[in-house]
Amino acid sequence: PFPASVRIVEVAPRDGLQNETKAVSPDVKVELIERLSTAGCRTIEAGSFVSPKWVPRMADTAEVLSRIRRVSGVAYPVLVPNLRGLEAAIAARCEEVAVFASASEAFSQRNINCSISESLDRFAPVLAMAREHGIRVRGYVSCVLGCPYQGAVDPIDVASVSRRLFEAGCYEISLGDTIGTGTPFNAVKMVETVAEDVPIERLALHFHDTYGQALANIYACLGLGVSVIDAAVGGIGGCPYAKGATGNVATEDLVYMLDGMNVETGIDLSQLIDAARFISEKLGNRPNSHLACSLDRG
Ligand code: HMG
Ligand code: MG
Repeated sequence: PFPASVRIVEVAPRDGLQNETKAVSPDVKVELIERLSTAGCRTIEAGSFVSPKWVPRMADTAEVLSRIRRVSGVAYPVLVPNLRGLEAAIAARCEEVAVFASASEAFSQRNINCSISESLDRFAPVLAMAREHGIRVRGYVSCVLGCPYQGAVDPIDVASVSRRLFEAGCYEISLGDTIGTGTPFNAVKMVETVAEDVPIERLALHFHDTYGQALANIYACLGLGVSVIDAAVGGIGGCPYAKGATGNVATEDLVYMLDGMNVETGIDLSQLIDAARFISEKLGNRPNSHLACSLDRG
C-alpha cells in the first residue's frame, strides 16, 4: 500500500553543499534554507559539526544556524560524529541531530576513521547526552546498496547496523545508497530485510542518483509503506568519501512524482524549483533535475 503522505527530509544544505567544488557564503546557505522552509519543507538538514579539515564546506554551520529565521514546525537537524559535535549542536540550539554509521567496514574507515563497532560505541554517549537535553537523534547507515571500496553489501549487515542504532535510541534510520548503484529489486529486498529488525515506519530512504535509479528505487520502496524520503533540491552534492558519487534524488523530481500519485508532501513545487535555480546558479551549475531542465528548455 502506498502512503497517503510522505515526509521529505531536505538535505541539500548539508549533503548537497558538503561536496560541491565551489564554496558558497553563509548568506547563500541562509537564503537557501529560508527558501526551502517557505516552499513548505518541514525538515531541513542545515549542516554538520564535523572536523573542518575533513569537510571544509561545513565549517560555517554554527554561523548559518545562528542566522536563519527559524520557522515554527520546521526542524533543522545537523550531523554530529562525536560528543564534540553534539556540544556544538547544543550551543547552536539544535533540537535534532544525526549520527552516521556505515554497513561497510571500508567506508566506515574512510568516512569517520574508525570501524563500525567503534562508531557505535562512540555514538552511545552522544545518544545519552542528547536524551538528557531532549534532542532527537536520527541514525544514518551508508552503503546500504553497495560500497565504493568493498563492492557488494549484504542486506543482513545493513539490518544489523540499523537495529543497533535503533536500539541505541535513534528515532529514525535513514538508509543511504551512498553511491547510487542500487536497483529496485535489490532496494526492496534490502528494505524488507531491515524491516524485520526496525519497524518500517521508522525507516527513511536516502538515495543518491548517480546511476539514475533513485526515483525507481523510491517508487518500489514506497509500495512497502516507507513514508520518509531524503532528497536534495537541484540534485546538488555527493559524498566526499565516495568518489564519483553525485547528489541525492532531486527534491523537485520527487515532489513531481508524488504530486502525480496524489501523495501529500506539503511542498509547493514552483517555489521549490525557484530554490533549485537559486542554489544551482550560486554554484555555477544548471539544476541537476529533470524538472528544472525541462522547464528551462521551455
Ligand atoms: P579523527 O581524525 O579520527 O578524529 O576524525 P580526532 O578526534 O583525532 O580529530 C581530528 C581533528 O578534528 C582534530 O583537530 C579534532 O579537534 C577535530 P586537530 O587536532 O587535527 O586540529 N574534530 C572536530 N572538529 C570539529 N567538530 C568536531 C570534531 N571532532 C574532531 N565534531 C572525525 C574523526 C569523525 C572527527 C572525522 O573523521 C570527521 O569529521 N568525519 C566527518 C566525515 C563527514 O562529515 N562525512 C560526510 C557526511 S556522511 C555522508 O555524507 C553520508 C550520508 O549522506 C548518508 C549516505 O549518503 O550514505 C549521511
Ligand atoms: Mg548522502
